[in-house]
Amino acid sequence: MTRNCMMHSPSLMIFWHLTKGAGISNGRVLLRNTPTLNYVGMQRGFFYDLKAGSLEDQVIDVVHHRQEMNGSLEQAALIINSRKGYHRLFNNAYPGQSGGADPWKIQHAIASYLRSLSPFSSRFDLYMRGDHKQLSADEKAGFNLFMGKAKCGSCHFAPLFNGTQSPLFIKSEAEVLGVPADTDTTGTMIDPDLGRYALYAYPQYKHAFKTATLRNITKTAPYMHNGVYKSLEQVMDFYNRGGGTGLGLKVDNQTLSSAQLNLTKAEIQQIIAFMGALEDLP
Ligand code: HEC
Repeated sequence: MTRNCMMHSPSLMIFWHLTKGAGISNGRVLLRNTPTLNYVGMQRGFFYDLKAGSLEDQVIDVVHHRQEMNGSLEQAALIINSRKGYHRLFNNAYPGQSGGADPWKIQHAIASYLRSLSPFSSRFDLYMRGDHKQLSADEKAGFNLFMGKAKCGSCHFAPLFNGTQSPLFIKSEAEVLGVPADTDTTGTMIDPDLGRYALYAYPQYKHAFKTATLRNITKTAPYMHNGVYKSLEQVMDFYNRGGGTGLGLKVDNQTLSSAQLNLTKAEIQQIIAFMGALEDLP
């Protein structure tokens, strides 16, 4: 998550990265790293534990969540309707529905905006549409490794490179990788966050998290639900060793293969180069 803040002079903009978002009360840190909004309209489950089944439900959860916004859509509707301009804009946007803003329209309007964040304008997309000059030899080799030797494509499904399964795109998957609590490769522990298990206590859900999209991934460090990895090199090292089990952690139900991938340094750089080609162009 990137925060920007005006300090002293309006011309001085300071940026810093937070591993986890700041909550509403006294900047208390939230449970997880804030996920990207890129391509959320193409997912069928929201939040790292898939607790919401639609973007409209996701809106209610965040606005009402005590640690996140601690607000209410009813209150928001009252405030919006107290401004004449907004009242009119809501009536224009929802013809035949007078009364300005109300909770379901706010949910729907925000969800509609989120659905617009899927530009498909990366060099990978241009290449797939026939402009074969868009990808370098290394990026193409990286794509082949991603789909082949490194097995990334068995969870990050093309073309969204998230857990929304083709060809029907009606289900978003969660997986158990055994993500550690910190970056040390010795003596660390599995991150204590139980993921989907905290919602449904089935053993296979222990430490299961939604498979995140890799589109624009070069822009959204830090990585994983707890933001443990600061770079794609660190993420690649984790996968190359066989995830949590490969690091020697006790993970009961890891769905990621614990076999080492045996990727060379050059192959790792090629996969990272391919992920860079998933950055949307303006
Ligand atoms: C078994 C399924 C699976 C495989 C195989 C897999 N991933 Fe993932 N990937 C996930 C899941 C699930 C997450 C989210 C985990 C979390 O946040 O704890 C994730 C997260 C990531 C992230 C961080 C995303 C973010 O926004 O924080 C990157 C980068 C990534 N994977 C790249 C890869 C690459 C590269 C490969 C191949 C070397 C790969 N993945 C193989 C399931 C998988």
